[in-house]
Amino acid sequence: MLAARRRSILKMIMGRRTIRLFREGEIPDDVLELIVEAGVRAPIYLQSYTVIQVRDRGKREELAKLCGVEAVEKAGAVLLVCSDLHRPKRLLDILGHPHILQVDKHPVEAIYSVFEAALMVENMILAAEALGLGSVILDCPLLEARRIAEMFNLPRGVTPLILLCIGERGEVPPLRPRLPLNMVFHRDEYVEPRDEELEGYLKTLEKHMESENYVRKYAGMDMRYTEYLKLKTELSEENKKISDSVAKFLKENLMKL
Ligand SMILES: Cc1cc2nc3c(=O)[nH]c(=O)nc-3n(C[C@H](O)[C@H](O)[C@H](O)COP(=O)(O)O)c2cc1C
Repeated sequence: MLAARRRSILKMIMGRRTIRLFREGEIPDDVLELIVEAGVRAPIYLQSYTVIQVRDRGKREELAKLCGVEAVEKAGAVLLVCSDLHRPKRLLDILGHPHILQVDKHPVEAIYSVFEAALMVENMILAAEALGLGSVILDCPLLEARRIAEMFNLPRGVTPLILLCIGERGEVPPLRPRLPLNMVFHRDEYVEPRDEELEGYLKTLEKHMESENYVRKYAGMDMRYTEYLKLKTELSEENKKISDSVAKFLKENLMKL
């Protein structure tokens, strides 16, 4: 019985796919609370994160435009997940000792806050999955950090990271490829992959994305996946501008490494 249950949890993890097309319909408050409660059961250090549910239709529309993603309007629930060094700072202030969050450079706490938020997000994704719901992470809040901070009244020290859209699945996509296990799981020391192995993976990825019609379906563009990847990561003036503005926001927002 126990073994069967363990197998079913593993099956759920192994079968999870990002869902980008949702059927309309809100997620009831008690279901969403259960998902967030599962999120906060993830391992913590200072619990340096905050989640804001975006219920306001106007804000949902604005976010959908900002992110260029329809799911933000359609999904049953939209959660803005932030790293939050503001609340831990207040907690430590109460203890009355000179503490690390009083200065504006604390690389360990800054990295841990993102790590904690990520663990929390994955727990919520799996909880949603267990409840028969699909989800997608959207990265636009970090890229538009200043605008989002204004929109949601975020105090200094709270950094918007991602939107997590959760809802009834409106598609059944295939499992997407991953790097071969030996490239990410090493024993006793780091093992450099050979160029041919990396090239082989890029080919596998290209072939899969082609079969899924991924770029056309989700980005509305007619190009190969590797071209799309290049576009997203190009050292272009526009991407440099985004990097600079995010770096400036982080620096001013207690996230200076
Ligand atoms: C940090 C992070 C940011 C992401 N941002 C986006 C995004 O902006 N838009 C999107 O469609 N998917 C986004 N994703 C989801 C990935 O694209 C998705 O996990 C990947 O395509 C693999 O698909 P799978 O989850 O179905 O295996 C993001 C995932 C992570 C971890």
